[in-house]
Amino acid sequence: MNHRPHTTAILAMTADGKISDYQNSPARFGSANDRAHLEQQVSLADGILFGAGTLRAYGTTMSVSQPELLHQRSERSQPPQPIQIVVSASGNLDPQWHFFQQSVPRWLLTLPQGAELWQNRAEFERILVVGKLEADGIDWRSALVQLQRLGLNKLAILGGGELMSSLLAVNSIDELWLTICPVIFGGEAAPTPVGGMGFLQSHGKKLELLEVKQLDGELFLHYRVQRN
Ligand SMILES: NC(=O)c1ccc[n+]([C@@H]2O[C@H](COP(=O)([O-])OP(=O)(O)OC[C@H]3O[C@@H](n4cnc5c(N)ncnc54)[C@H](OP(=O)(O)O)[C@@H]3O)[C@@H](O)[C@H]2O)c1
Repeated sequence: MNHRPHTTAILAMTADGKISDYQNSPARFGSANDRAHLEQQVSLADGILFGAGTLRAYGTTMSVSQPELLHQRSERSQPPQPIQIVVSASGNLDPQWHFFQQSVPRWLLTLPQGAELWQNRAEFERILVVGKLEADGIDWRSALVQLQRLGLNKLAILGGGELMSSLLAVNSIDELWLTICPVIFGGEAAPTPVGGMGFLQSHGKKLELLEVKQLDGELFLHYRVQRN
């Protein structure tokens, strides 16, 4: 029996391995094909998980709008929109962001001090409070078990790099879709798909290549993350 949801990360990366430029701009360098691919992956999920840094960059989130994808969700007995779950230890988010006007269900995954800021407010339908593990930030094992108990069997992880690194560290990413886009940003400060301290070569997370698609100038790589 699974004790946590199945997780698929979906990211777009430049040819030199960056997920944004050195100003942390919202990543809009993918093509319309990449956007459609992201929306399709989002449409398959019960919940979408993203870090507060990603929300700070975009101020908005990817919802499902294509009629065909909405129809397929209905056929699978899923509600029209997956639940949008923001991960923020601090809870320091601006209620003026467009995200809070989008017609999507919103949950907050946070630590006790972050939850205090959002009590008795309408922006989040649910606030999940989890303990903190000293090295890892949010206690992912407990958070993911809670999400599974709340009926979320399939999660899409939309980044950014800090969220990715903490989930990979506890072996909680099952699949990865990486779009390689034909552009170079460079820059030491520009974020990469996995941030944090990083893993030593001996502890690198090994991937199995499941599928490669090429559409115009972009490559869509689909990996399974192998269990260590
Ligand atoms: N190309 C792409 O596909 C793509 C996708 C997504 C994002 N991006 C880019 O990535 C950049 C943002 O990435 P990022 O690495 O800076 O940020 P991130 O992972 O989106 O967010 C980091 C923040 O999320 C919270 N967080 C993440 N993991 C946590 C954990 N384990 N425990 C507790 N809190 C956690 C913390 O929020 P608090 O600070 O509130 O405590 C942390 O500061 C932006 O430039 C964005 O454009 C690109």
